[in-house]
Amino acid sequence: MDSILNTLSSIPWWGWVLIVLLLVAIRDIFIQKQHTISHNYPLIGHLRYMLEKIGPELRQYLVANNREELPFNRIERGWIYASAKKENNYEGFGTDRNIYEHQHIFINNAMMPFKVDANHPNTIDKTFLPCAKVMGLHHKRKKPYRPASIINVSAMSFGSLSAKAVESLNKGVALANAYHNTGEGGLSPYHSFGGDVIFHFGTGYFGVRDKHGNFSMEKMVALVEKNPFIRAIEVKLSQGAKPGKGGVLPGAKITKQIANIRGVEIGKDVLSPPNHSAFSNVSEMVNFIEEIAEATGLPVGIKAAIGKLDQWEELADIMLKTNKGPDFITVDGGEGGTGAAPPSFADHVSLPWVYGFSDLYRLFKNKGLTERIVFIGSGKLGFPAKAAMAFAMGVDCINVAREAMMSIGCIQAQVCHTNRCPSGVATQSKWLQSGIDTTLKSVRLAQYFKTFRKELIEITHAAGYEHPCQFKMNDIEMNVDDHNLSKELNKTYMYEKVLVPFTGMQDLKDCVYLGGKHNA
Ligand SMILES: Cc1cc2nc3c(=O)[nH]c(=O)nc-3n(C[C@H](O)[C@H](O)[C@H](O)COP(=O)(O)O)c2cc1C
Repeated sequence: MDSILNTLSSIPWWGWVLIVLLLVAIRDIFIQKQHTISHNYPLIGHLRYMLEKIGPELRQYLVANNREELPFNRIERGWIYASAKKENNYEGFGTDRNIYEHQHIFINNAMMPFKVDANHPNTIDKTFLPCAKVMGLHHKRKKPYRPASIINVSAMSFGSLSAKAVESLNKGVALANAYHNTGEGGLSPYHSFGGDVIFHFGTGYFGVRDKHGNFSMEKMVALVEKNPFIRAIEVKLSQGAKPGKGGVLPGAKITKQIANIRGVEIGKDVLSPPNHSAFSNVSEMVNFIEEIAEATGLPVGIKAAIGKLDQWEELADIMLKTNKGPDFITVDGGEGGTGAAPPSFADHVSLPWVYGFSDLYRLFKNKGLTERIVFIGSGKLGFPAKAAMAFAMGVDCINVAREAMMSIGCIQAQVCHTNRCPSGVATQSKWLQSGIDTTLKSVRLAQYFKTFRKELIEITHAAGYEHPCQFKMNDIEMNVDDHNLSKELNKTYMYEKVLVPFTGMQDLKDCVYLGGKHNA
């Protein structure tokens, strides 16, 4: 025994290195069967796998230029990070963008900007920017709701996001007078830190399902009564990253807490089918919406990504005929994010936001229905100039998901589906999320929202308006090709927006339905 130990201890350190390399080479050639490259090029072959693994990080930090990356390039991320930290988010020396490039947006400024007088709400608060429409007013719901911020947190569930992330977002929306959409995973304790909440559910009916997995009105009513901060309800039909795709929540991920919140059994796989069991056609969906609105008193809306228009046409006809239907419609773009989706869906199914929204808005406009609907847009719209374009096209509010995640520390590692999110935002790992300080991060979200609103107000004033709802299609131009082909939006998308009845920011401030803490 002693002689073996003596022989081993006499081997120099480089001898050990050689032994390890030899063992790895033996494994590569004779034992492992998965990797042909490692078999054919033992040892060296590993370099290829290592570089493939760290390639995205190398490109993100060292190689990619400022405007190159997707979904969000370095300039966009930098603007969100700086705004969230209240750092200098300006750029010097002029734009570094090629402003002649295809799809570049131009906002037509007025000769003289809108004049803000001394008593104007925006002189008092430069970030005050509520929605110009009230959800549920047209359909005479018992509790109409005017979102107090035109930028809000889009649907992302507790489950896809960590508890600490959801808590930061909820505390943040409370500070910014915005709302927080729960996403499909039910209402968790982390959604209860004071922000307005839009309760969202999909085909899994998490949080409002009976023991067979069907929608339970009893549970819905109880949930709303117990949590008066729920201001509206959103029925998810589809989302841009994976329209029409169901999902499975693996039993292994269903902890006691998640089982309680979602109303499912611990440890058992749960299916979210592609279709709703509560309705199977458009008129049944309208009845379903009306029943929920009647039972809860809240405005009820739908969220969808847009593709074919025939069923939307049917919906519009039913709304016209019956004076019933959704109080708001959230249109998600095909470029929208997700916790996890197959690339074939994320890349190809459903239209990008500008195409989908313009198709839908034109349809509702032709039926004369736009005034009764609050239009919400989501799909990389969390930047003031993009938002100005969206308002010109007809949106009344913006929802942001990934931009909100970035404001609380997400680094776009794009590993939400692996449970290994390095920033702790999209993981259930206790260790990875333990670095999130929810008080600090909530201030960051609020600061991002406030900076966003302030810049959007400034752009609006530069265009001669008081509120972005006053933007019209011909206020924005988009490069379709060279200078002579740059077209106003109304010419590209072929409709005029119906002007939102707007009587001044002060009237919005005085509105009894105004959300957030303004009337508290
Ligand atoms: C992590 C994550 C989870 C999401 N979960 C949901 C969800 O539960 N329901 C839903 O309708 N959309 C969900 N979405 C989509 C977003 O709500 C949003 O519509 C989409 O990401 C576009 O907004 P963005 O470009 O600002 O990210 C999720 C997105 C992300 C990134």
